[in-house]
Amino acid sequence: MISPATIQQIQSRIDIVDVVGNFVRLRKRGGNYLGLCPFHNEKTPSFTVSPTKEIYKCFGCGKSGNSISFIMEHEKYSYVEALKWLAHRYNIEIEETDVNPEQKQRLLLHESLFAINNFAKNYFSDQLFNTEEGNDVALSYLKHRGFREEIIKKFNIGFNPSENSAFANAAIKAQYSKENLVSAGLIAERNGKIYDSYRGRIIFPIHNQSGKILGFGARLIGKNDKAPKYINTPENEIYVKGKILYGIYFARQAIDKADECLLVEGYTDVISLHQSGIENVVASGGTALTPDQLRLIKKFTNNLTIIYDGDSAGIKAALRGLDLALEEGLDVKLLLIPDNEDPDSYVNKVGAAKFSDFIKENKKDFVLFQLEVMLQEAGNDISKKSAVVNHIAATLAKLNKVEDFIKRQDYVRKISQTLNIEEEGLNDLVNKLLREKVNKVLPPVGEKLFSGEPSAVPEVEEEVAISESDKFEFAVLRALIEFGLKEWEGETVADHIFKEIEDNELEFGNENNLKVYNLYREWYLNGSKPDASGFLYYDDREISSHVVQILDLQVEISPNWKDHYDGKIFTREDLYKEEVRYALIYLKLRKVKSLIRVNQQEMQKAETEEQIIILKTHQLLKVLEIELTAELGGVIFK
Ligand code: CTP
Ligand code: MN
Repeated sequence: MISPATIQQIQSRIDIVDVVGNFVRLRKRGGNYLGLCPFHNEKTPSFTVSPTKEIYKCFGCGKSGNSISFIMEHEKYSYVEALKWLAHRYNIEIEETDVNPEQKQRLLLHESLFAINNFAKNYFSDQLFNTEEGNDVALSYLKHRGFREEIIKKFNIGFNPSENSAFANAAIKAQYSKENLVSAGLIAERNGKIYDSYRGRIIFPIHNQSGKILGFGARLIGKNDKAPKYINTPENEIYVKGKILYGIYFARQAIDKADECLLVEGYTDVISLHQSGIENVVASGGTALTPDQLRLIKKFTNNLTIIYDGDSAGIKAALRGLDLALEEGLDVKLLLIPDNEDPDSYVNKVGAAKFSDFIKENKKDFVLFQLEVMLQEAGNDISKKSAVVNHIAATLAKLNKVEDFIKRQDYVRKISQTLNIEEEGLNDLVNKLLREKVNKVLPPVGEKLFSGEPSAVPEVEEEVAISESDKFEFAVLRALIEFGLKEWEGETVADHIFKEIEDNELEFGNENNLKVYNLYREWYLNGSKPDASGFLYYDDREISSHVVQILDLQVEISPNWKDHYDGKIFTREDLYKEEVRYALIYLKLRKVKSLIRVNQQEMQKAETEEQIIILKTHQLLKVLEIELTAELGGVIFK
């Protein structure tokens, strides 16, 4: 952790005009500065920086914040990374606190691997440009392939000489430990002798999001059937294959701006596209995408366009990533490059403009593409065709987030047309699968109640159909819709829920939930007696099916039910009151948790005097949290 003293020092030295000025050309306009917004495309400047208030705001896209948030947003850095960037910029030494010995050990290892990789990157680059072998063998090969010097330098491409241990000797002479050089995968020891791992190869450094070198891809020069084309860094503390996207450091701003990420297979594809001006591109290394990689993409955009060779290996690799990408809520398109070309060779052949047009005109929706491929394979075989229907329904059931509703309906319509089947039928099938999935995660109330085993809040698996947070809102709405008109201490449940929500300033984060709540309230206050059927026949289809989802969900309401009511016969009365009570406690607890989080963030920024107040607040919130948790019967709530 960066020490509060350092943070304070950074804050006192920051000049927002200078910070933003690194990335945006600013012109003085009155007391403020004005420039073209870096967060959206515009022709007339609406991005304003106020040096006195130390904030920026874009009147075009609405983005606003301070120096730290600017660096976080613009460079896609974490809070800590942004602070480090600023500290570096203002020559402030970073003081770190609160690191236990184990963490320290790990940090040290990370740091030394990064340091070695950085040394290696510089060494390889120097060899490429400043030695005879580098020039004659490697640089000429790269240039022959069409890479210009500018792009070679930008991507820090280098060369490892063919001599047995040229790099190893240089690195050991520079005091890097042999052990760490081996962990970094750069050298290997055999029979007491040391060898360079990448002898005679072109080196592609692999940068992480903030530009540090995680490892390398080392390519043979020319063709050779005896050796592997690429050798990559072995997995180590910093090189974790499943988390790496080659090119992300150079692509991140372009992805943000284009609101689209292009995914290709290879290093050379990324570099060639960049050279031709298409910069929103990263590579997966030809393997199926992992959840970590998808999440990394999602930090920047929801639109993923996969560009692979037309050969079947490429398609298969791409298809394997599909379901995961859908579950992550990404919009996936696919583009196949024809005629045995890959993006690198194709963009070199047709040029940047034609390549861009080619993407725009030929990218296909991934789900529909998958359908096409499967239908082709099925031919006229009836049983294979029905397998296709089942498969595609299962794929659609992956679109299970509340906000996926419209997308799913759209697919159901298109796919039922393609397959020439009834829309209703496909819809039912998908809904059935969705429901099965929900029920798998959350056992029905009754089952839980009478099973006799000690119940607990169910561990929610990763494959949860509805987010944890939505679930609590659902529980309150379900109680409202089902029991709103019942009695609650002289008034109605609805009155009670409204009052609780207002008094405690509880909020609905999900837009549709808020709509349902407001609608109920409006109807109720108008004097009509709202119930489920009012919603189910409501003419906004999105709302009505949202309510179906709310009512469908079997919410677990009372974790320690058995203990509370041991020996007592349940009445309908007990059940609904308990349900209302628990639903509200969960929502309150969620609020308290989020207040605690916000308060903790404040703590990091606060001056000493403020820290005392923040600490007091923290203690109060903690007490509240404990009380609420106790009301739930001691259940731990994450
Ligand atoms: N790859 C690998 N090991 C190999 C072959 C391929 O790790 N033996 C990975 C590399 O990340 C490579 C990607 O798969 O970039 C795609 O492979 P390929 O298309 O064969 O290589 P290109 O990057 O297109 O290289 P080139 O254009 O130089 O042939
Ligand atoms: Mn290639």
